[in-house]
Amino acid sequence: MRPFYITTPIYYVNDKPHIGHAYTTVAVDVFARYQRLRGHAVRFLTGTDEHGQKIEESAQAKGIEPKAFVDQMSAPFKEAFEQLGCAFDDYIRTTEERHETRVQRLWETIAKKGDIYLGAYEGWYSVADEAFITEKELEELDPVTKSKVQRVSEPSYFFKLSEYGDALLKFYDENPDFVQPAGRFNEVKSFVKQGLKDLSVSRTSFKWGIPVPGDDEHVMYVWFDALSNYMTALGGPAEAGEAPLYDQFWNADDARVVHVVGKDILRFHAIFWPAFLLAAGLKPPSQVWAHGWLTINGEKMSKRLGNFIPPGPLVDNFGADVVRYYLCREVAFGQDGDFSHRNVIARYSGELANGLGNLLHRMIASIVKKNLGGVVPEPAGPVLPEDETLIAAAEKAAAGAAEHLDTLTPHRALDSIWELVGAANTYVDQTAPWALAKKGDTERLGRVAYNVLEALRWLSVMIAPFMPEKAAGLRTQLGIEGLSPREGDDLWPSTWGELSAGTQTQPGNPLFPRIDEKAEKALLAKFGLVEAEEAPKKSKKQRKEEEKAKAKAAEEAGGYLAFDDFLKVELKIGLIKAAEAVEKSDKLVKLSIDLGEEAPRQVMAGIRKHYDPADLVGKRVTVVANLKPRKIMGELSQGMVLAASDDEHGLSVLTLDKDIAPGTRVS
Ligand code: MSP
Repeated sequence: MRPFYITTPIYYVNDKPHIGHAYTTVAVDVFARYQRLRGHAVRFLTGTDEHGQKIEESAQAKGIEPKAFVDQMSAPFKEAFEQLGCAFDDYIRTTEERHETRVQRLWETIAKKGDIYLGAYEGWYSVADEAFITEKELEELDPVTKSKVQRVSEPSYFFKLSEYGDALLKFYDENPDFVQPAGRFNEVKSFVKQGLKDLSVSRTSFKWGIPVPGDDEHVMYVWFDALSNYMTALGGPAEAGEAPLYDQFWNADDARVVHVVGKDILRFHAIFWPAFLLAAGLKPPSQVWAHGWLTINGEKMSKRLGNFIPPGPLVDNFGADVVRYYLCREVAFGQDGDFSHRNVIARYSGELANGLGNLLHRMIASIVKKNLGGVVPEPAGPVLPEDETLIAAAEKAAAGAAEHLDTLTPHRALDSIWELVGAANTYVDQTAPWALAKKGDTERLGRVAYNVLEALRWLSVMIAPFMPEKAAGLRTQLGIEGLSPREGDDLWPSTWGELSAGTQTQPGNPLFPRIDEKAEKALLAKFGLVEAEEAPKKSKKQRKEEEKAKAKAAEEAGGYLAFDDFLKVELKIGLIKAAEAVEKSDKLVKLSIDLGEEAPRQVMAGIRKHYDPADLVGKRVTVVANLKPRKIMGELSQGMVLAASDDEHGLSVLTLDKDIAPGTRVS
């Protein structure tokens, strides 16, 4: 069985863990659990990135030594991931000796080959991103990140990245799945094709890093240190036989090495990291999978906006498995998606409580208990077409979920699995076992009940990577053993009918108890999300004071809009790919607009009276891209198309007179 090594990025410890960090780690845990179920040897690594200028500065701001600071800050990440049920095999901290000595070895190997040389760096350094940036990149930064950019002029070691462009392009050609999703691979390739500059890989103006071997004046550039964690955690780089984990999970010909990262740090993983490894004569990883961002009201979580959502209270109120399910289900892996507490509740109620929970409960706690003595019946009598349909749905779901989990698209895997939940609920509705019981048709009742219980058994395996505790609970109620993955044993369901007749089921409490309206309000209140009408009314005095403060702020701005406020509105060029009139509305047109992102956005525009939808296709328009998505007549609208109107001409959308690329920011 193929060794599977999967990693998360290591997290900077200058922040506390938030659901963005949880998102990556949970997804990786899901992939690792799936591969274990299939019988593969699996190693799952996560950890913390503890060096660098940003961390040194954070420690200074707190008035403590960097080591004491990172010790304090690393533990909450580990605890948060454990609380979320993430079963990592190793947790690396870059301040550990096992890491530092191996990074130095990697450095020395590259230096010996002559690909590291001493020079001087003169240019910009973004402390927030821990990255050397160009003049052009500087211009594109948001104002807050920009305020933390420094002019650096200091001696520095350089890595000869400029000499690795061709080798990288050849490596990409030979490994066409190296970066996923494919669209992001194209971005990486074009970046490399533009030509690479040598990379500064050491700093002298601060101390908090791994010393450069043989030159204590320099500490290593934090990304050289950080990227190496994937290898040092296995004991590499090492000679064959020296580090067994490294031999098995990195060096073995069939080892599959996957780094899952956020799209913000793809460049480091897809360009620098393989280049360092090629230079050292070592094997690059098999794949880098770049997912999108979890946003809050359309914005990335950031200190500036103070919109971090910690995972702890979510787990306390919904349970780890529900949070895991939500994170994997809500957002298409690879794209950005908004987090919302209300959607957690909506998905919980619709898909978990009413979907899977109800299927289990109506069958085990009701039909089987009341009519079959709580025992799995022997399937007897003819197999009818509806039975075959259910079995086919189970086979399709298992094959689909397996494929999507293997290709790291968890939202798709859940789509496949929930098709079976839907098919099984439909089967119960169609076959009406309660009516069969009433009629006394025990034979047919037996087959129907068996089929539903068997579908639930299949589901208990398929949901296990996502919701390990719920899967165990489901199996307990079915009266079957928990799953204990072992190397070489494939536990994925593939043969219909393996549930043994005669098994005593154990009806228990609902797997997903319903959240009624009152409980929902109480939950929302806990998260500070009470509805506007429930918010305490403001007194006259409070209202007056607020108005005064507003008037004062407007006066101070001299009636002008502050530039930073203007920048908050993300105006982008969009290319209309499709347009259709919305039935039941004489105003609305449903547009599909390319904004240079992975998938086009759906935007609802009230322009039907002024345009034939067909004439809109191919137009380049101006879109407000960071408006909070909302539903208009039941359809999601993910932006707003700008338009102007007057009495003489009617309405006109704002178009361009050149073919500016979709996604380009308007400024
Ligand atoms: N320390 C570097 C990574 C070094 S890896 C060799 C770093 N750390 S980070 O803490 O800033 O972010 C790490 C990762 O956290 C991101 O790549 C991403 O996987 C995850 N996320 C952080 N915020 C996120 C969201 N808002 N949404 C989704 N993932 C997010 O960069």
